[in-house]
Amino acid sequence: MKDPFTRNLGDGGRTLDQKILDIFRQDKGRIVSGEDLSGVLQVSRTAVWKHIKSLMEVGYRIEAIPSRGYRLLEAPDLLIPAEIRAGLNSDRIGRRLVCCRETGSTNEDAFRLAEEEAEEGTVVIAEAQRRGKGRLGRHWESPAGVNLYCSVILRPHILPAKAAQLTFLSVVAAARAIETITSLRPSIKWPNDLLLNGKKVAGLLNEMSAETEKVNFIVLGIGVNINMELAQFPKDLRHPATSLFLETGRPVCRLDFVRALLEALDTLYDTYLQNGYGPVREEWLERCNFLGEKVRITFQKNEINGVATGIDEEGALLVKLPDGGVERVLAGDVTIL
Ligand code: BTN
Repeated sequence: MKDPFTRNLGDGGRTLDQKILDIFRQDKGRIVSGEDLSGVLQVSRTAVWKHIKSLMEVGYRIEAIPSRGYRLLEAPDLLIPAEIRAGLNSDRIGRRLVCCRETGSTNEDAFRLAEEEAEEGTVVIAEAQRRGKGRLGRHWESPAGVNLYCSVILRPHILPAKAAQLTFLSVVAAARAIETITSLRPSIKWPNDLLLNGKKVAGLLNEMSAETEKVNFIVLGIGVNINMELAQFPKDLRHPATSLFLETGRPVCRLDFVRALLEALDTLYDTYLQNGYGPVREEWLERCNFLGEKVRITFQKNEINGVATGIDEEGALLVKLPDGGVERVLAGDVTIL
């Protein structure tokens, strides 16, 4: 079978493949004659057959019914542009989709593309990562075909000190997507973990390139455990983890999820550009699970104990100390006591 990723099927404009798939999808399960396809697409019937054959070679199941036409039976369960684009309703996020079967880290790829001037809204997605990066230099487990590993390039005109606002924006978008697809309401653990029933289901790692007074670009790195099974989690996890499959008891369509996520990012980023950080911060606070609670924050060898009271403009966690003072915490792991 040919690899759909090497053709980056469906990106870079609507290809003939994409147009054929769109026609099949207009009316699910319907038989479309070769003559109709060649008429609508203004190409010969031989060309139609060549494209149908190449779609079949990359994993589309298409039935050829003698003297009647073709019918799309099944699309491959792969995060490829042609499938993500079908039904994607976003303006900015996902303008360009770069999908691959395996990579080192989608964050590294997106960072390199951004340095090469890739446009805002470019999204890099991989089926698997060899060295998925987590927060604080940790590893992010990235087995093939079950989860979502994606990185989005943004170019907001903001000061570097405000870049953490985009981290909050991305975690709220991921929470919205989980809610849309599963009806479960994840809670946010500062700064950027999403939990279901107290177990981590998604993590965010945002990286940026900046000068003293200007952000060049930000890469939002989003990892969501979608259909991962218990046995696929590493044994030595620091905190309990889960997946949407484990929490709902049924497999979740990764394509539906990725579309929901890109759409949520698109809407929230638009709101952010028009109305600033306020609405994002409000929703983050509503979804956060430990405000008003006693917490311990550890970072390297340091430890802070106090009551979590909020986050500030720059994303720092505000912790009220036993002596009444307030500490701004910029990095670390939170435990609710
Ligand atoms: C964390 O919670 O530690 C953050 C995990 C972030 C993982 C995602 S997966 C997609 C993107 N590429 C990476 O290498 N990391 C992020």
